[in-house]
Amino acid sequence: MQVRSTVLTALLVIGFAATAQAPASLKGAYQGDFVIGAAINAAQITGEDARGDATLKAQFNSISPENCLKWESVHPQPDRYDFTIPDLYVAFGEKNHMFIVGHNLVWHNQVPAWVFRDDKGSLLDRDALLARMRDHIHTVVGRYKGRIQSWDVVNEALNEDGTLRQSLWEKIIGDDYIAKAFQYAHEADPQAQLTYNDYNLENEAKRKGAIALVTKLKAEGVPITSVGLQGHDSLTWPTVDQMDAAISDFAKLDVKVAISELDIDVLPPAARQQTADVTLNIQQNAALNPYVNGLPDSVQQQLAKRYADLFGVFLKHRDVVTRVTFWGVTDGDSWRNDWPVRGRTSYPLLFDRAGQPKAAFDAVIRAAGQPAS
Ligand code: G3I
Repeated sequence: MQVRSTVLTALLVIGFAATAQAPASLKGAYQGDFVIGAAINAAQITGEDARGDATLKAQFNSISPENCLKWESVHPQPDRYDFTIPDLYVAFGEKNHMFIVGHNLVWHNQVPAWVFRDDKGSLLDRDALLARMRDHIHTVVGRYKGRIQSWDVVNEALNEDGTLRQSLWEKIIGDDYIAKAFQYAHEADPQAQLTYNDYNLENEAKRKGAIALVTKLKAEGVPITSVGLQGHDSLTWPTVDQMDAAISDFAKLDVKVAISELDIDVLPPAARQQTADVTLNIQQNAALNPYVNGLPDSVQQQLAKRYADLFGVFLKHRDVVTRVTFWGVTDGDSWRNDWPVRGRTSYPLLFDRAGQPKAAFDAVIRAAGQPAS
């Protein structure tokens, strides 16, 4: 009898120890489900934000470059590339054994005006712009071949109704600029995962456009491997059912899904419709910026539940979802503080302005292992 109780006690102690060792990190909690990423900014890449770096190393096993690999940053002039920060970015990811994402190659924003024009200022023709796109992609992707594992190849090519955005890429090259971008990226690094990345794909009209686009690309043998649902969400949009339907729809196309830029805005909506179009800029007013002195606990709890509900859906689809990336480390880092209204105090992420975990962090840790039904 004595032996049995000793064994039971030992098992209880081991069990307790195991529970006590429960992962206190996001990456540990979701180990085996999907990687947990964060967009990192120049201050974190260069080490200036030591506190942010410590959080990144402790909590995340994937990184995305918030700005440093965008065309305006890495290729500011026709004959000049600047890889200073991108080299540090990739080195940070490698040193910390992270899944490294490249963001992004072809976008209508943060791309210099010269890209679309010749040295006399006239718009390029199709062949000249394709050659410029190919040079950029081969140079940038080629430099990090085998080191950046996944690229956001084309970003936000669709309008809200699902039609193709009439960017200069589309107007000058035509619809196949998207396929060409994926082709060039695959040429430069055949092993890299290649993503089409967009926002609001949880809305049916835009999702139908994305489904048609991905279906066409796959039918043409274009090497697209995943779709990025950016996830610039609010407390109420998208619903759990909308997120579930969106992931399910893309899973049917034999592509993986990355939740590529997750944040949840708790501030009053300033735009008439849900959007993440960075060109929006709405004038500040007090009613749009109610939490200057801190976030009420009631809203902290709403945010916590919202994140837990969304992670339940991601877990339900963990066979398809490969990555969940937060678009920033702490609330103070977030683009949401300045968009669509400059100078607001937003609270969209899991760590507060002091770098401390919020109730939402605890909720996401607790949600691990609990997929939505
Ligand atoms: O680098 C300049 C700096 O030299 C200058 O002093 C400063 C003054 O305004 O601006 C700096 O550039 C800013 C840049 O971020 C780097 O910090 C731009 O003004 C600012 O507009 C830009 O914002 C970025 C935004 O994309 C612009 O498109 C955000 O940080 C970034 O989080 C956001 O990320 C996008 C994704 O790439 C695509 N999906 C939507 C997402 C949110 O908009």
